[in-house]
Amino acid sequence: MAQLWGGRFTKSTEQKVYDFNASILFDQKLLEQDIEGSIAHVVMLEKEGILTLEEKDLIVKGLTEIRDDVHDGKLVITSEYEDVHSFVEANLIDRIGDAGKKMHTGRSRNDQVALDMRLYIRGEVLNVSNDVVILLKTLYDIMENNLETYMPGFTHLQKAQPTTLSHHMGAYFEMFKRDYLRLQDIFKRLNYCPLGAGAFAGTTYPLDRNYTASLLGFEGPTLNSMDSVADRDYVIEFLSALSTIMMHLSRFSEEIIIWNSNEYRFVEIDDGFSTGSSIMPQKKNPDIAELVRGKTGRVYGALVSMLTTMKGIPLAYNKDMQEDKEVTFDAIKTVKDCLELFEGMLSTIRFNNQVMEKSAMKGFTNATDAADYLVNKGVPFRDAHGIIGRLVLVCIEKGKSIDELSLDELKEISPVFESDIYDAISLKTCVEKRLTIGAPGPSAMREVLKINKEFLDNIK
Ligand code: ARG
Repeated sequence: MAQLWGGRFTKSTEQKVYDFNASILFDQKLLEQDIEGSIAHVVMLEKEGILTLEEKDLIVKGLTEIRDDVHDGKLVITSEYEDVHSFVEANLIDRIGDAGKKMHTGRSRNDQVALDMRLYIRGEVLNVSNDVVILLKTLYDIMENNLETYMPGFTHLQKAQPTTLSHHMGAYFEMFKRDYLRLQDIFKRLNYCPLGAGAFAGTTYPLDRNYTASLLGFEGPTLNSMDSVADRDYVIEFLSALSTIMMHLSRFSEEIIIWNSNEYRFVEIDDGFSTGSSIMPQKKNPDIAELVRGKTGRVYGALVSMLTTMKGIPLAYNKDMQEDKEVTFDAIKTVKDCLELFEGMLSTIRFNNQVMEKSAMKGFTNATDAADYLVNKGVPFRDAHGIIGRLVLVCIEKGKSIDELSLDELKEISPVFESDIYDAISLKTCVEKRLTIGAPGPSAMREVLKINKEFLDNIK
């Protein structure tokens, strides 16, 4: 047990208490951030005349060596220390002696851990953003190449109207675009530096908080020292954004699973992204999509866990807040893995264009267009709706689609039908006529592709 406190205690901590209290097993993930923050802190202390140049140089050198030694495996982080902050400080003092004892001047572990966590989340917001952009690019490619790949669109999982694969993928493009923008938003809000807040009431040293903030790439210092140490909103916002990403991935996975089923066969997942069965030799399962769908729960769990942890904490720092780490680290890893695997699966998936097109032709997806055809010939829409409803019934009885009926058969239902009906309800016409921005018509889709290309180009 190597701890940073003990002076006012007459008895040592029970081992069980020590273990329960310690966070080193998981907060060692913050080593880089802890060292980066400590370097900025001592550079500022020297500028303010609180440390000598020599002391500052010794500390920075010691901290850099600790980081390198851990990287190289020469120094191992063990549970002998309470947390990563204690580990770094104790090692520093071992290395450089008394100067090391001055590093923590004008700082508390409360603002230290608040800083470390913010730096960590800030980096991960960018990492997840990059993963989302990779997925957006894959979606864009599929959209661009499938402007005339017809497929049924669904409501209530029933074939509804024809659309294109480009349009369907475009829906996901918009979802993940919002996810990307949400992350940018969170970044802006969290990019303020809590260092200098001390335990919660600032310090009596003449710290230059603007300077440390700028050294660490923040917009500026946070403006209330009590809030600085007690705030984990940015963790909650990030977990919320991650949950939304998972919700989108999960819906998408659900569709891939349905499309990959024997009944649909709209897609074939690449062998490299499928798995087999130990007993049924014919099986090729969509496990990746199922796991992505399944892992959504643990990311939501992290969000609810953090919301619950924070809801009853009086200001300012309380140890409950140490619970922010494990769930958040797990959620971040889960989302990054899911984005990467899902993108790999999607970029190698084979779309069975003919099956999709046939399916669109079979499910009366052109019934709305057939009604619109009658409307254009002067039939009021409500009557047209009724006529086509009866027509669909006849088709079901005869086992035919609308376009498979002869003109005579059509005329039996309504004399308004002429031979131009066939062209009016072909899949191509049905889609091409949908021209308003956001609709599946290829010309409308081309406009959207242009806007989204600009969006992607502006990201770099
Ligand atoms: N391990 C602690 C955490 O993660 C560090 C802060 C400790 N501060 C304190 N006052 N005990 O929150």
